[in-house]
Amino acid sequence: MHIKKLVGLFILSLALVNCKEEPFQITQTQIIPIPNSIELSDSFFTIDETTGITYDDNLKVSAQFLKNFIETGSQITLKKGNAIQFLIDETLEPEAYNLEVSKNEIKIKASTDQGSFYAVQTLRQMMPVGLENGAFSENEILIQVVVINDKPQFSYRGMHLDVSRHMFSEEFIKKYIDALAMLKLNTFHWHLTDDQGWRIEIKKYPKLQEVAAYRDETLVGHYSDQPHQFDGKRYGGYYTQEEVKDIVQYAKERFVTVIPEIEMPGHAQAAIAAYPELGCSNQPVEVAKKWGVFEEIYCPNQKTFAFLEGVLDEVVELFPSEFIHIGGDEAPKTRWKNCEHCQALIKREGLKDEHHLQSYFITKMEKYLNSKGRQIIGWDEILEGGLAPNATVMSWRGTSGAVEAAKSGHNVIMTPTSHCYFDYYQSENDDEPLAIGGYLPLEKVYGFNPIPEELSTEESKYVLGAQGNVWTEYIPTERHLEYMVFPRMLALSEVVWSQPENKNYEDFVSRLENFHQRLDALEINYANHLYEIEGDLISDDGKSYYELKTLTEGKNILYTLDGSEPSVNSKVYESKIPIIESSIIKAAVFNEEKRLGKTFSQTINYHKAVGAKITIDKQPHQAYSGSGIEGLVNGISGSDSRYGDKEWLGFWGEDIEITIDFEKAKKVDTIRTRFYNGKGQWIYAPKQLDFKLILDDGSIVYDEKSLNENNNKIVDLEYIFNYPKGLDIKVKSIHFKIPNYGTIPEGKQGAGNKAWTFIDEIIIN
Ligand code: ACM
Ligand code: ZN
Repeated sequence: MHIKKLVGLFILSLALVNCKEEPFQITQTQIIPIPNSIELSDSFFTIDETTGITYDDNLKVSAQFLKNFIETGSQITLKKGNAIQFLIDETLEPEAYNLEVSKNEIKIKASTDQGSFYAVQTLRQMMPVGLENGAFSENEILIQVVVINDKPQFSYRGMHLDVSRHMFSEEFIKKYIDALAMLKLNTFHWHLTDDQGWRIEIKKYPKLQEVAAYRDETLVGHYSDQPHQFDGKRYGGYYTQEEVKDIVQYAKERFVTVIPEIEMPGHAQAAIAAYPELGCSNQPVEVAKKWGVFEEIYCPNQKTFAFLEGVLDEVVELFPSEFIHIGGDEAPKTRWKNCEHCQALIKREGLKDEHHLQSYFITKMEKYLNSKGRQIIGWDEILEGGLAPNATVMSWRGTSGAVEAAKSGHNVIMTPTSHCYFDYYQSENDDEPLAIGGYLPLEKVYGFNPIPEELSTEESKYVLGAQGNVWTEYIPTERHLEYMVFPRMLALSEVVWSQPENKNYEDFVSRLENFHQRLDALEINYANHLYEIEGDLISDDGKSYYELKTLTEGKNILYTLDGSEPSVNSKVYESKIPIIESSIIKAAVFNEEKRLGKTFSQTINYHKAVGAKITIDKQPHQAYSGSGIEGLVNGISGSDSRYGDKEWLGFWGEDIEITIDFEKAKKVDTIRTRFYNGKGQWIYAPKQLDFKLILDDGSIVYDEKSLNENNNKIVDLEYIFNYPKGLDIKVKSIHFKIPNYGTIPEGKQGAGNKAWTFIDEIIIN
């Protein structure tokens, strides 16, 4: 879209707000995902009892969708006639459309029913939200005159859903698919099997229904809360083949392809609980009751391959998708290392190690599916030990897997945890519902570019698109699931559909604010963080200031500095607030007299290192780089309950060295800091710190401090500097060595991998 048009569009929206005669018209230009080009006029087409509709038979599904939307949402019944026309235009690409609304007619052109379906979704968003739930009671629908040319940026536009950890009703899955279709997403990745439950009926193997579909009880609270507690309630169920067929058909009518995921060789404990002979040890195991990665994986023997082929035979009958997802992630090789059969197989096949055995496993299953005319997708671990010949890689552990796959000529789908994991926290508020961890705010999703920068234009053609992943360990209910998915899914729709040059976060936010009404009408429980406040401590010319921001335009931020609740009488924020002492800032967003969001509260601990020069020998990991290394001396500590916020910095497997230099030497009595200790997430506090203090007389003090290992979520370190008696000594600089914990021990999550170190603030007094 050209800027000029964008401006026009804003002005028009404003004009409509001001005249207030036809309030529903305001939404007319608020389309998500933003189309390629829009040319608006300020007149209207009217749909009423006399309006007729005709369509080419090849565009029947989309035309019927529109007719149904209007007729169930209003009192209007469409006639046969030419006012609304669905026309084939063979020159358009398969998912593209042209939508021309003039005063007298609406013309929808596409080369496929799918293309015209997307025109209908656009048109739908130009109609009053009351049509979404039958609340519209007028006898005319006004649609603004417009010409829209549109087509997607990527061919794969997906959302994933894990139904193993928690299961959701068939009705709800359909509601989810409806939302995908409204946002022009075209793929539903259905994660059907995992350690905690097998959720698809396979008639050949009844114990999958009897045993694998149920767990005896479920972990309560977060995995890292020790000791583990369970709810004592049996949990489970599965989708019958009839229900699966119904869902697949429902999705098809909305141009959403359902890709089933059948996990192998890992995340298979539920299946092995039902059929212990599928594991290496042939020992009984139970369907998992807690989260994480389990060592019980399929043994690559004849029984397993026969079983999986039997499962896939039924799966391909139910799912017509070109792709079948075979998992491939997080498969510990412990069992294979200790299994005579596996070791003999490695020898016989001339494989290098267990990773190559996994590759052998996946390649065998790929051949089977290829023989049935299907292609496989696997998580990026399928690169280890050699990629199966025709596989598509779903890149989740960052983007390096995608780069490697694309450079070797394989298709890739982008789902990096950093931008696509909608089970992560979306706000730093302490009252967010419990989540697995991480921090993925809306703006970060919106800013995602699915094409890794390492790829050339030619190589980037292998990037089919991107997908949002929704793992449900901590998401037990449908309302909670919607809260995690919306509005991040709206941001994702723009990532995969819209042209990068049309994207603009502020504009998106204003459209989203408007879109809330449509989500309300659809009874979707979205998260609303638009009226939250973001704060930042900044240094300018050696002085500290606090800056407050909020996303939406035309509102006031009111604040206090004495710990009291902000009210309409509080100070209006106009420019950065000077900070000269420890303070509590409280602020909230107001629209005239009305308070819109929650109270933002920030405690600033104005200690001696605030604003001091800080240097480090390694940068934090890009996924946990927070507010940068300066954030360690900004007077602000991280959350007490989680490590994903911008104050906690994460380092993976590295020893780090930090230096704090004071401009003027200072007396130092204590040095305090904190380390996060989330063993379930591979995060370990260091065992010991080494200090070096350089004093103003040039002498150097070396010291060390050990940390006791424990299960607290946060490990505090306090170092008291004992000055030689009677001396007035000042410190010029402080140097810390923070060794990484090392390799994660056997028996713990992530055993054998390097641990993470997380640190939030270095407080000097
Ligand atoms: C994954 O998140 N284990 C693919
Ligand atoms: Zn084995």
